[in-house]
Amino acid sequence: MNLLAKSNSILSGEVLCPGDKSISQRIAIIGSLINEDIIIKGFLDGEDPISTVLALNAIGSSINMDGTNVQILKRDQPFISPESDVDLGNSGTGIRLLMGLISSLDINATLIGDESLSKRPMLRVANPLNEMGAKVVCASGSPPVKIEKGDIRDNFLYDMPVASAQVKSSIILSALAANKKVTVIEKHTTRNHTERMINYFGGTIEHTKKDSGSIITLHKSELSSRPSYEVVGDFSSAAFLIVAGVIAKESNILIRNVGLNPTRCGLIKVLKSMGADIEIINQSITCNEEVGDVSVKSSKLKGIDIGGDIIPNIIDEIPILSIAASFAEGVTTIKDAEELRVKESDRLAAISDGLSRIEIKHELFDDGIKIQGKSDSISVFAEIDSFGDHRIAMSFLVASLRAERGIFVKNCKNIFTSFPSFLESMSQLGVNIDEA
Ligand code: S3P
Repeated sequence: MNLLAKSNSILSGEVLCPGDKSISQRIAIIGSLINEDIIIKGFLDGEDPISTVLALNAIGSSINMDGTNVQILKRDQPFISPESDVDLGNSGTGIRLLMGLISSLDINATLIGDESLSKRPMLRVANPLNEMGAKVVCASGSPPVKIEKGDIRDNFLYDMPVASAQVKSSIILSALAANKKVTVIEKHTTRNHTERMINYFGGTIEHTKKDSGSIITLHKSELSSRPSYEVVGDFSSAAFLIVAGVIAKESNILIRNVGLNPTRCGLIKVLKSMGADIEIINQSITCNEEVGDVSVKSSKLKGIDIGGDIIPNIIDEIPILSIAASFAEGVTTIKDAEELRVKESDRLAAISDGLSRIEIKHELFDDGIKIQGKSDSISVFAEIDSFGDHRIAMSFLVASLRAERGIFVKNCKNIFTSFPSFLESMSQLGVNIDEA
C-alpha cells in the first residue's frame, strides 16, 4: 500500500488515542495465564496484538476479539502444543514475550514471523531463558524459534546487557508461569507495563532504583483475577499526532486518553525542552497506568542534544522526533540509540534515507543521527521508502505538514500493525492521506 499525503498546514480538532500495543499484548498473555473470565476494553485491534491473541489461542487460550472489546474465557484444559508453526507476523513483542511464557509451559511450539521479524535478534531472549532452565533453540539467532519443555530454576538473576523491555518481560513471564522467583537488573529503566500489570493482578513484584537503571524482583506469585481490564491509549501512536500538531504552521489539537507512563512519554519532555507548546490535562490512573489528554499547539522548536538514560523511554519515538528536529532551528543530535538498528527496519538507516529525500541535511552515526533543522518548508516532492516499517511510514507522512507539494510514502501496509486508525485520526484533524 502506497500513500500520498497532500500538503496542509492547518490542524484542528480532537481525536481519541487508540489502545496501547505493548499493554494489549501483555493483557492477552497475562490474562491467559490467570485463566479466569476477563473483559478487556480499549484493546488495540492492530495486527500485532491480533497475532499475539491468535498465537495464544493456538496454544489453548480462549480469547474472543470484537474490535476493541476482547474477552478472555476461562480454559477448562491446560495449555496445548499447537498443531502447526505459530506465526507472530511483524511483532517483536509478541514473539519475545511468548518465548518467555511458552518456555515454562509443558508444551512444544515453533514460533515464526514475517520477513522483517525473521531477521530480528532472538538470542537476547533465548540465551537468558536457556540459562534459566528453558529449552529454546534458535539456530540462526533469529526466527524460527523452537521451544520444548524445560525446567525453570528458582532465584535466577539476570543482568541485562541491552536495555530491553521485551527481554525483561520475557524472563519475568517465564518465572511467573513457572511460579518461580526471578531478579532482572536493567542499566537503564525501560517500559514497565509488565511489572505494573502483575502488580495490578496481585503479584508481588519489587522495583528498586540502581544508578540510572532498576532492579526488578518477581516473588513467587499466584495472580488473582479481576472481572475487567481497560487498556489506556498508546503514547507511541499519539506521538505522531503530537509532532504533527507541533510542526504544523497553524494548529490547536487535543488527543484524548493518552497513556502517560513515565517510562514511555519521554518525548513530551524532549519536545518541551525544544520549545513545544504541549499541555497535559485530565490526568488520572487506569488499571495502574497514568493516562491523560494532551493538548498541542504549533510551536517554534530549537535543536537539542539527546542521549543516555532517556533513550529507552523515547526509543519508538525517535523516527518522529527526527521529523520534529528537521523543522527546528539549529542542530539536534541523538546518540546512544544503536537499538534502532534492530527494530522493524534499521531505523537509523531508514530515517537517513528519508531525510535525504526531503533534502534535510544530516549526519548518520552508528548509534544516532545529527540533524540540521530548517525553519521553512520542504519544496521538493519526495518519494519515501518506509522499508516496510510502520513508524517510518507514519513519520514521513506527518512530515507532509511542512511539505509544499505533499509526500508520497511506499509500502505502508504495516501501519496496521500498530495504528490501524492512523489515516482516520489524521483526517479528523484535517490532514488528507490517500492511497496512491
Ligand atoms: C516493547 C519494547 C521495546 C519497543 C517495542 C515494544 C514492548 O522494544 O521498541 O516497540 O512492548 O516491550 P525493546 O524492548 O526491544 O527495546
